[in-house]
Amino acid sequence: MGQVEKTKVVVLSGAGISAESGLGTFRDSGGLWEKYDLRTVATPEGWARNPELVLEFYNARRQQAAAAEPNLAHRALARLQEHFEVVIVTQNVDDLHERAGSTQVIHLHGKLREAKSSVEPIEVRDIGDRDILIGDLCKHGSQLRPNIVWFGEMIENFDLAKKHVREAGHFLVVGTSLQVFPAAGLATLSPNTADKVLVALDIDLEPRGFSIREGKATQEVPAIIDTWLAGKRLSGPRYSV
Ligand code: OAD
Repeated sequence: MGQVEKTKVVVLSGAGISAESGLGTFRDSGGLWEKYDLRTVATPEGWARNPELVLEFYNARRQQAAAAEPNLAHRALARLQEHFEVVIVTQNVDDLHERAGSTQVIHLHGKLREAKSSVEPIEVRDIGDRDILIGDLCKHGSQLRPNIVWFGEMIENFDLAKKHVREAGHFLVVGTSLQVFPAAGLATLSPNTADKVLVALDIDLEPRGFSIREGKATQEVPAIIDTWLAGKRLSGPRYSV
């Protein structure tokens, strides 16, 4: 007898899913882009102008992420793997999905725990929780930089992420303002038949076909997962025409 294929659940996550683990979001009031100038710390031009400041910014982010723990939303998604094929596509640079136990995690905007060469972008190395300092060099003798996708740079793994979203049976978009493209464009790519739900604290944009849950990730995500585990849908059935 052939095996029954598991429904594919695709999750597009953003900073809001890690907010209740104590990591700041970007665009909420009091968020990182109110405290720091995005052009100074998150662009190649900012890096060229003041690498020390950029390293300081990401060293602080890395230390905060290392001290944070996955929350109930990260853990609920890991639990879902027992019954569904789960693919997490995240804009986050922390590793809280992995530390909660999720095994298929695609990072679109890079990873805090990696450094890369500033002349040879494929030279990436794991640095764990360590700081990157001025004078830390790659094999080619140039300064190491954080492996973060800055504004104006090419997003990582986008084709793979698109493929998974197009195959989604259930699609959860959580903790993202959907302001940053191309990542935000993924929200429009799931099949018409997918059960789609959007969770965020404040929702301004309501993408078509989504069930909307305005609230905290730690409350909403476990409830959504219980619904799916019970074999029910959140949005009305939609059929391709
Ligand atoms: P944003 O800061 O733009 O949006 C955070 C979202 O999380 C908002 O929709 C909030 O309502 C929601 N939120 C906040 N707390 C929440 C909670 N406890 N539960 C659920 N939702 C909550 O963050 P992103 O959309 O992730 O890129 O930002 C996208 C990209 O912009 C980031 O990856 C980063 C940033 O600039 C780079 O730095 C390249």
